[in-house]
Amino acid sequence: MQTINTNEIPASVVGLGLMGCSITACLLMAGHPVIALAPIEADMQHAEGRIMHHLQKSFEEGLTNKKPAEFAKQLLITMDYAALKDCKLVIECTIENVEIKKNVYGKIEAVVSNDAIITSNTSAIPISILQSYTKHQDRFLGLHWAEPSHTTRFLEIICGDKSDVKKGEFLYELSNKWGKEATLVRKDIRGFISNRLMYAMYREAFYLVENGYATVEDVDRACRNNAGYWMTLVGLFRWMDLTGVPAYYNVLKDLFPTLNNQTTIPPLIENIVQQGGIGVANARGFYEYTQEEAKLWEETFTEFSYEIRKLALKYPADVVKKKLQQQTKETK
Ligand SMILES: NC(=O)c1ccc[n+]([C@@H]2O[C@H](COP(=O)([O-])OP(=O)(O)OC[C@H]3O[C@@H](n4cnc5c(N)ncnc54)[C@H](O)[C@@H]3O)[C@@H](O)[C@H]2O)c1
Repeated sequence: MQTINTNEIPASVVGLGLMGCSITACLLMAGHPVIALAPIEADMQHAEGRIMHHLQKSFEEGLTNKKPAEFAKQLLITMDYAALKDCKLVIECTIENVEIKKNVYGKIEAVVSNDAIITSNTSAIPISILQSYTKHQDRFLGLHWAEPSHTTRFLEIICGDKSDVKKGEFLYELSNKWGKEATLVRKDIRGFISNRLMYAMYREAFYLVENGYATVEDVDRACRNNAGYWMTLVGLFRWMDLTGVPAYYNVLKDLFPTLNNQTTIPPLIENIVQQGGIGVANARGFYEYTQEEAKLWEETFTEFSYEIRKLALKYPADVVKKKLQQQTKETK
């Protein structure tokens, strides 16, 4: 495998909202020159401040030994698509709206070279649909990040029906440089992997609350204190291996037929959304918040994302392989 030099891979993030700014910070810290493209004027007002804030906090937390100012010559924030000319990787991160994304792809393809890889951070629009709006469909893939992108280890690389899997494999390699432990989704499927798993859980959570089995708070407690305890170390399959496969075999026979498989929107979320609730962002969600509590939840989430990262770094996917190598070295 050829060594990848990120400094030789100019990248672009198109769309500088919540995620576009943290993805930009991640790419800069990984060594890419980055063109941060603002499709709307509002981005120009806040993007630089947000990116610099991520870089400053990352410096303080030891994610990088460079101060924010040292990244300045690697970063250009602009509204001009022509600046994308030499980019080898473009990450579209605009609002979840097919028409807007389609329009943005036209502008990107008009300037980048044919070998540039174009990706979308869409949460749920199938990649095969998005790539059908591009001229060179084989170089279009999904790149699904988790917020805050510069601290999280999660990344899904998704091939659409027409994507070149080799380009997916290249991104898989490259993402190691971004501090990610990526999942390559070789065949397109709605929701990709993590959202399919998570939404199966959300559906059951709504069912349990709406049918009076437990409160929102108690469902959350079960979630945090069971799955939440071990999931940074292992996934579902390793967990079954660790705790004994036959137990799961026995339970699922009787439990699967009782799980909820409703396909309509649960009233609990319908009501919140109809009444304008967003969550902590406007202090109205599944829980009640004072303005002060909502702000503190946002701050606590940020603080936690840096803390959990430190723990996660001690336990990479190949943690056992590394331990074995260490033991072999010590016995020699
Ligand atoms: N927020 C998350 O946790 C999360 C996680 C994974 C994926 N995503 C996906 O990432 C993408 C961006 O999400 P976000 O949370 O950063 O959104 P956001 O609302 O913070 O930012 C949206 C950005 O879209 C762009 N935009 C808005 N109107 C536009 C227009 N008319 N034309 C062109 N561009 C326009 C702007 O750059 C704006 O800043 C979405 O596809 C979303 O589904 C979000």
